Amino acid sequence: MDLRSPAVRAATVTSCLALLATVSACSGAGVDGTPGSPGVRDPYFPKLGNGGYDVAHYGLTLGYDPGSRHLTGTAEITARATKNLSSFNLDLKGLDVSGITVEGKAARFQRAGQELRVRPADELERGETFRATVRYSGTPETITDEDGAEEGWLRTGDGALALGEPTGSMAWFPGNHHPSDKASYDIQITVPKGLKAVSNGELTRESTKNGRTTFAWHSAEPMASYVATVAIGKHELKTSTTEDGLPIVTAVDPSQAKASEKVLAKIPDVMEWAEYNFGPYPFSSTGAIIDREEDVDYALETQTRPVFPGAPDTGLLVHELAHQWFGNSVTPKSWQDMWLNEGFATYAEWLYAEDNDGDSAQDVFDALYKGDYYEDKEDNEAIWAFPPAKPTDAASISDPPVYERGAMVIHKIRQAVGDDAFYDIVQGWAKTYRHKNADTRDFTEYVEKHAGGDEAREKVSRIWGDWLYGDGKPDRP
Ligand code: TRP
Ligand code: ZN
Repeated sequence: MDLRSPAVRAATVTSCLALLATVSACSGAGVDGTPGSPGVRDPYFPKLGNGGYDVAHYGLTLGYDPGSRHLTGTAEITARATKNLSSFNLDLKGLDVSGITVEGKAARFQRAGQELRVRPADELERGETFRATVRYSGTPETITDEDGAEEGWLRTGDGALALGEPTGSMAWFPGNHHPSDKASYDIQITVPKGLKAVSNGELTRESTKNGRTTFAWHSAEPMASYVATVAIGKHELKTSTTEDGLPIVTAVDPSQAKASEKVLAKIPDVMEWAEYNFGPYPFSSTGAIIDREEDVDYALETQTRPVFPGAPDTGLLVHELAHQWFGNSVTPKSWQDMWLNEGFATYAEWLYAEDNDGDSAQDVFDALYKGDYYEDKEDNEAIWAFPPAKPTDAASISDPPVYERGAMVIHKIRQAVGDDAFYDIVQGWAKTYRHKNADTRDFTEYVEKHAGGDEAREKVSRIWGDWLYGDGKPDRP
């Protein structure tokens, strides 16, 4: 039989189509898909994320009852296949999945740990946009991350709080939970009347029916899942605007209201300062969430609306708002590039102090290098434990070398190129990689290219070896 003959080919296609309705393997013969990989080879979290597709949008419809701690969820995931797929994975920890459809047809699925493997009735073709709908429910888990911090879904006195860095978001919705796959979001939460449910972006609807209130939040700009959040409780929810008309949405636990007033009033000024230094704000609203949870003592730069565990000081507010540019708009390609987030956010604190009658960044740098910045010797030594661009392991990605020594790297660049070129680099970096992902190499290449001539390029290129990648304390400040 000559397979190239048009008549034979046509016959094969027809019989295949006839079978398609009953035997899904037939479409496989046409598409020839293989399973999508269960991870994206993150050097620190190999199981996070999934290969073979790229999410464009998450539509999450959630219901939560703080009394019973029961969550019901529907996740509508719109994604594009990046290869021919016979199956693909989502990350989801805990919770019961009651059903999954892909393109409206029931799909088979299988769970193993945090991996949820979905086998659509029809294989997916490379380039095809598809919609997967996952129905799930249960009591969401609190995840203890590698450094002992609590994340995931946390129960608070009057509700719940979702925190996702680095692995917590899989506790409350299925998805491609790696920073390299950003997407837009619509997050809708229904809670008992009297409570508020706050999330990222802008509130598009609030309605009460049968003793339950629904809050719908829209995030048009790309968001990594680790900075998605939901805060449920008796919060005071307030909206105002900056002078430029950017909405400021704050949600504050009543116990924190008094203590938070002053610092929250600084948001417009800090935003203006940050835009002046880093360039245009990359999102459609800003604000803060101030909540109480016994086991959480850290802040997180949740997109548009950082979460604070109690009233922050000005430095911490600056840090989390700076992350909106560095971390949330320019997002690391992998968890190895974490210093690009924390180095910049920490340096933003130094710059803000310098610009507001505090210590200069040079003073902070010198004290850190000399080893008399902190009271305790151990704290002063901790910043030299490993190079910022090569954390020892997953437990160390939020250790001092990533923060302080990361900020010292940024300061070294400023010293090498001078203030004019430095601020051009900072703003150009934020602009070039706006709403994208970047890694350390992208950064060092960008800085070298924009250092301002051969001599300056030579100078900055000497920073990387010792300060970014080298073990131990560099010989010279
Ligand atoms: N990114 C947070 C901040 O600096 C800190 C943080 C919270 C964190 N959870 C984390 C860092 C998990 C690394 C891993 O504002
Ligand atoms: Zn930070």
